Amino acid sequence: MNPSQPHSLQPEYFDALYQEDPDPWKFETSDYEAEKYAATIAALPKPRYRSTFEIGGSIGVLTEKLAARTDSLLSIDVSKIAQDRAIQRCQHLPHVQFEIMQIPRDFPDAQFDLILISEVGYYLSLEDLKTAQQQMLNALEPGGHLLLVHWILYAKDYPLSGDEVHEAFLDLSPTHLKHLFGKREEQYRLDLFERC
Ligand SMILES: C[S@@+](CC[C@H](N)C(=O)[O-])C[C@H]1O[C@@H](n2cnc3c(N)ncnc32)[C@H](O)[C@@H]1O
Repeated sequence: MNPSQPHSLQPEYFDALYQEDPDPWKFETSDYEAEKYAATIAALPKPRYRSTFEIGGSIGVLTEKLAARTDSLLSIDVSKIAQDRAIQRCQHLPHVQFEIMQIPRDFPDAQFDLILISEVGYYLSLEDLKTAQQQMLNALEPGGHLLLVHWILYAKDYPLSGDEVHEAFLDLSPTHLKHLFGKREEQYRLDLFERC
């Protein structure tokens, strides 16, 4: 936990980043992101999902790739600036829905067989992460998959580290989640779980 940042980062933080640069993390152009996205999609054990929930979809680069593996996809984000670009990018994909939501304050009232949380857990306080974890457990069907991907280097603004996020989910295993797969690269970590 980061003592100088005990609270979840708020939508204004992200809107300011997107106002300054429409693609602040270079999702569209970076080789690192492209490799990570390929590893993320390759980690999905099933060829196709019924209903997918993507948390923090940003400008929709990963959303578009994920859409090819699911019959329906709900992608949420706190930033309308980012999501407007995602909507534009995915306009040829009618099975993808977008909502402005801030977890854990908001959470969809639906059941999913896949939840993806890629590069967003460390923006939450530990308390909010724990609330969101319970919401995810409630929304994930038995046998459903939960895929986590996070950058693991130090970031001074973030309430949690990537490792703290993944450890919080590993703490739910084996009672609530079965850990199916883990991979650690130089800059990021990926963990796949199945709902018991
Ligand atoms: C670094 S981007 C990750 C984008 C994408 N998931 C990926 O891996 O390429 C993080 C996104 O999460 C959004 N976000 C941050 N906190 C959030 C929250 N509490 N609920 C929903 N989205 C959030 C931000 O607005 C931002 O667009």
